[in-house]
Amino acid sequence: MPIYIVLLGPPGAGKGTQAQIISKTFDLPHISSGAIFRDNLKRKTQLGMLAKEYMDRGELVPDDVTNSMIRNRLEQEDCAKGALLDGYPRTPAQAQALSDMLQEMHAKVNAVPNIKVSEEVLIERLAGRWTCRAEGHVYHEKYNPPRTPGICDLDGSELYQRDDDKAETVKNRIQVYFQQTMPLIDYYRQAGNLIEVDGAKSIDQVGEELIAALRKAVL
Ligand code: AP5
Repeated sequence: MPIYIVLLGPPGAGKGTQAQIISKTFDLPHISSGAIFRDNLKRKTQLGMLAKEYMDRGELVPDDVTNSMIRNRLEQEDCAKGALLDGYPRTPAQAQALSDMLQEMHAKVNAVPNIKVSEEVLIERLAGRWTCRAEGHVYHEKYNPPRTPGICDLDGSELYQRDDDKAETVKNRIQVYFQQTMPLIDYYRQAGNLIEVDGAKSIDQVGEELIAALRKAVL
């Protein structure tokens, strides 16, 4: 049976960081909606140019656009065994759309880890984040520094700071999270698949807790 895991948490909670560990452990493709938008922007596609308008303001890309992008991705062959979704769904309408898509595939969401972190910590994490241009590997100048400043340990590409990590945009992204994404915590709690994780601990500690809880939930 395919396994679908949805990673919830505010901007900067560590979803992308933990997704790298989870996707390796469970051999699932890592699907990050934000990364797909950034890749489209890099290639200057119509989708990328549209998404940029919203991302620059820290707002969400409209549901219909995001839902059809994820549907296309989930229909690809590597998702036959399931997927790890990072940053999607982000609104109740997206959660409903995902549930409908999976039902059509005779599958369902199996587990939803929610990484909890205070607002103060989120701001510090985003201000110090560096991302690799080639594959989106994530570093932090204090908590997870690359071996050579400015260079990705894994593929040697340049590290950059995301445009939407500017202080003003970060504030708005956090607001948008509280207003539009937080209701999903109750939605998945009621569905019986929520796993609460303390994201304030170190990257390794959070990873260990997540993997242990996920093994119980999905294997
Ligand atoms: P997206 O790319 O999804 O960004 P996000 O959800 O805001 O999350 P981030 O990538 O900023 O943070 P993260 O939780 O992955 O943290 P990370 O692991 O990097 O979305 C960007 C934009 O795209 C949205 O604003 C929206 O416009 C659009 N979009 C995306 N999905 C959409 C959707 N479904 N619908 C509509 N629009 C959508 O970690 C952060 C930093 O902290 C790193 O430096 C890391 O090294 C460090 N760190 C991580 N864990 C720890 C730890 N435990 N201790 C210390 N440091 C840590």
